[in-house]
Amino acid sequence: MERIDKILSSQNIASRSEAKELIRKKKISVNGRIVLKPDEKFEPETDEISVDGKIISFKKYVYIMMNKPAGVLSASNDKYARTVIDLLPKEWQRKGLFPAGRLDKDTEGFILITDDGELAHKMLAPKNHVYKLYKAVVDKVLTENDVTAFQNGINEFLPAEMKILDEHTALVEICEGKFHQVKKMFNAVGANVTYLKRLRIGGVMLDESLSKGHFRELSDSEISQLLSAEHGI
Ligand code: URA
Repeated sequence: MERIDKILSSQNIASRSEAKELIRKKKISVNGRIVLKPDEKFEPETDEISVDGKIISFKKYVYIMMNKPAGVLSASNDKYARTVIDLLPKEWQRKGLFPAGRLDKDTEGFILITDDGELAHKMLAPKNHVYKLYKAVVDKVLTENDVTAFQNGINEFLPAEMKILDEHTALVEICEGKFHQVKKMFNAVGANVTYLKRLRIGGVMLDESLSKGHFRELSDSEISQLLSAEHGI
């Protein structure tokens, strides 16, 4: 059981004070009865909550796709640097949100922000083969030998697919997500990564209409596609 004002704010419907105001105006009802006080408690997953006559569909977790800009940490909080959570407006900042997986500070692109620990765990476990696709720009001319080296598996890393787009640019697909993995793999073939962007997680592409630092919620079908083992460039 949870306080109604907390339920409404957890669903980004109203802040706690806006919820109080809605209740005062008798705009909130639960199971057909008008709620009179903000501290009344309900079961959000089973009780039918209406706002202004419209039934809300309760979402237990949030799933946010952000286009992370370079210069921002993929952490929940940091004393000195800005984090991806800091980029969310206040009304989106609910308790327990964290970035699922790490992108380096200078890496851009798709970061999933959620409070669903179980899904994040599944998405990140290498055994589940959720592939992540990156675009990398490097400082040497790439060759088919490099593609073969990636295919054969570099050092401690599993075999990975790489596709050369132009002399200095490639797509790389990995399913492990070890620390600095893409950079280390390129280093092993004599290339430094000068730009890195994550384009896809599982079966979900980064929405290219999201400019850097912008975000949107995932649709239900995208949420289920996050754990898709589909791959191939
Ligand atoms: N690999 C890296 O080297 N850096 C990232 O941020 C992600 C994958």
